[in-house]
Amino acid sequence: EAGRLAESMNHQVFAVGGFVRDLLLRRDVLDMDLVVEGDGIAFARALAKKLGGRVRAHKKFRTAVIVYTPPGEGENGLPPEEQKVDVATARLEYYEYPAALPTVELSSIKMDLFRRDFTINALAVQLNPEDFGRLVDFFGAQRDIKERVIRVLHSLSFVEDPTRILRAIRFEQRFHFRIGKQTTRLIKNAIQLKLVDRLSGARLFNELKLMLREKDFLLDLLRMEEFDVLKAIYPAFSMNQRVEKLLREIEKVLNWYALLYEPTAPRQWLLVLMGLTERFPDEDARGVATRLAIPPRERREFLNLRSLCVETLDRLNTWKYADGSRSGLYFILESLPLEGILFIMARTGDEDLRKHISLHLTKLSHEALEITGEDLIAMGLQPGPDFGKILREVLAAKLDGQAPTLLAELGYAER
Ligand code: CTP
Repeated sequence: EAGRLAESMNHQVFAVGGFVRDLLLRRDVLDMDLVVEGDGIAFARALAKKLGGRVRAHKKFRTAVIVYTPPGEGENGLPPEEQKVDVATARLEYYEYPAALPTVELSSIKMDLFRRDFTINALAVQLNPEDFGRLVDFFGAQRDIKERVIRVLHSLSFVEDPTRILRAIRFEQRFHFRIGKQTTRLIKNAIQLKLVDRLSGARLFNELKLMLREKDFLLDLLRMEEFDVLKAIYPAFSMNQRVEKLLREIEKVLNWYALLYEPTAPRQWLLVLMGLTERFPDEDARGVATRLAIPPRERREFLNLRSLCVETLDRLNTWKYADGSRSGLYFILESLPLEGILFIMARTGDEDLRKHISLHLTKLSHEALEITGEDLIAMGLQPGPDFGKILREVLAAKLDGQAPTLLAELGYAER
């Protein structure tokens, strides 16, 4: 479709970047990146029209994003998921100064590929019908994919964009590649030159978040430590034995939770950040949030969650010896965000407590959802000042397996 359109508009169009890399690596490909030699935005508008999608254009960068719903059915007969296509205009870029956003001037596919981070991402596939499927590889990308190595395209790559240090590590661990020798040297240089300091908090946070979301976040962090990147981000960051052990527990808990196939997924980055800062004084936790320019809502969540976890762990220990009831457990954990609950599971060395928390997640929190005020109304109870309290009591009785007795006392038969 894109190819035929390009032909009719007399443009050359290519699929590029991660899309092509993942194709060659036979990994699932998600979103597609296109580069157009010509007017990228006009092309995106025309293509969106054909696909029945929407377009968001960024005139300044001559890029656009098409969002559309592919025809047919998705998985399990559900409607198919929305797809994203990024469209860029092939261009020559100048960097005003390192780590700044680029200013833009027209040029060709080769320059577009040359400005990219690594050879493995600098591969294009032609989509025009006459050359459909032709691989465009100016920089040895296919060789590097075959040799499983991450290599920059030129020696100023990390000066242009220090977030690429984190990207190199992230791709290395994700694909089980290794960072090439020269590229390793360039990373070390960039660290010594303190180029990470030049990154804005927002860009750094964005890139770090991508890393902390990876399946291999732990290996990423260990590799970051090796390169002294962690300290470069925030001096108190360290993968000492304690932190490493906690992160291993977090990894286990995350894997365990994933196997439950619960509808809500935890924010892994937040959980890992909690682990990284567990022993930090509050001042340093705030320092991290400031350095990373974490947006206000997430910043508050992160800082609150830290103290909430400490308090909750205390309350759980008291509960265990003084109460031990399921309802007691439920009421302690009910308002703690999922990330906090999983963090406590990872953090506690108490196997029993872990089992209790697991019971809460797999059973109690579901049972609790089954009782609502409407059930009470259906039982003939009038909403009134005590309504909330009664609801809590019924809920507690249900969790503790005493609902029938309590309801009888209240004068109601269980449904
Ligand atoms: N890119 C770059 N320098 C960066 C970020 C991105 O050169 N700091 C280029 C890379 O060529 C990359 C493309 O922009 O392939 C798209 O970026 P992104 O979507 O972040 O990368 P993907 O390779 O698709 O990575 P992921 O699989 O993690 O989405």
